[in-house]
Amino acid sequence: MAPAIATSGLTKRYGATLALDGLDLEVPEGIVFGFLGPNGAGKSTTIRLLMGLLRPTSGSATVLGLDALRQRELVHRRVGYLPGDFVAYRDLTGHEYLHYLAELRGDVETSEIDLLAKRFELDLDRHIGSLSHGNRQKVGIVQAFMHRPELVVLDEPTSGLDPLMQREFLALVREEREAGRTVFLSSHVLTEVEEIADVVGILRCGRLVATTEVDELRTRTRRRVELTFAGGEPVPSDALARVANVRQLDVEDRTAHVVIEGSMAELLRVAAPFGVDQVVSNEVDLEGIFLEYYGHEEG
Ligand SMILES: Nc1ncnc2c1ncn2[C@@H]1O[C@H](COP(=O)(O)OP(=O)(O)OP(=O)(O)O)[C@@H](O)[C@H]1O
Ligand SMILES: [Mg+2]
Repeated sequence: MAPAIATSGLTKRYGATLALDGLDLEVPEGIVFGFLGPNGAGKSTTIRLLMGLLRPTSGSATVLGLDALRQRELVHRRVGYLPGDFVAYRDLTGHEYLHYLAELRGDVETSEIDLLAKRFELDLDRHIGSLSHGNRQKVGIVQAFMHRPELVVLDEPTSGLDPLMQREFLALVREEREAGRTVFLSSHVLTEVEEIADVVGILRCGRLVATTEVDELRTRTRRRVELTFAGGEPVPSDALARVANVRQLDVEDRTAHVVIEGSMAELLRVAAPFGVDQVVSNEVDLEGIFLEYYGHEEG
């Protein structure tokens, strides 16, 4: 089976900026691939190259076995694409715009448009120009999924969506995977990617620094956890410090600030009998993950 996406030495230079530096990537069919990286890492550049919207400086890419650049019309016919800077005809209503696209495509069950719009609570009768950022993003999501493509390529799809809609979006992605389809999405939010993706690629300064199964990432990820204990009993710092995967522990008043690597199960089991009142788990900054993979070397 050909991979859904494959790139070989894919490189893009903008003048003096090396936006993407020799990307070798293979995304098998039927998985959710999370493309993670900080601002300016080269995620959107990669996605535009995959969609044939940019010409690579060197290297090549295939999408569904088709050449990303030379066969881009065929690629566009078969994939769903949500650009990072999704803009639509502001003077059209959502209904007009999506039905216009559906007609161009010719392979859309128009009932699919209504189902998706309903699901995301999107009012199709409003002019796109009058929609809020998040609601406009929903129009972009609907057009990416409405023809039920075998591959969807999404550049920061949850940008602007409120938490409820983010959940809805993740549920949709899960359903697509269950139906055997492939989803490639970029994000700079680790927790989101961790929740939905099977495999994560981490991009930094145009270079792929790691490709890893999410399960593997979970066991290596460090999180900052704050455990606040109910008054009365002292914070059980000795017990917490003995938990095998606790890497750092600071106690401040009734709160233990813990850095933990991997699963929180043991920590919670140990802490629970001491009357934990509140648990806050902070997202680990991407830089932390990069350091995990790169030691402390620079560049
Ligand atoms: N049209 C352009 N002209 C010049 N430089 C560009 C252009 N587009 C992108 N770049 C540069 O290429 C690098 C990668 O940008 P890219 O937009 O791919 O990053 P990104 O990972 O999508 O970031 P973000 O998370 O902010 O969306 C950045 O240094 C950016 O400034
Ligand atoms: Mg981007």
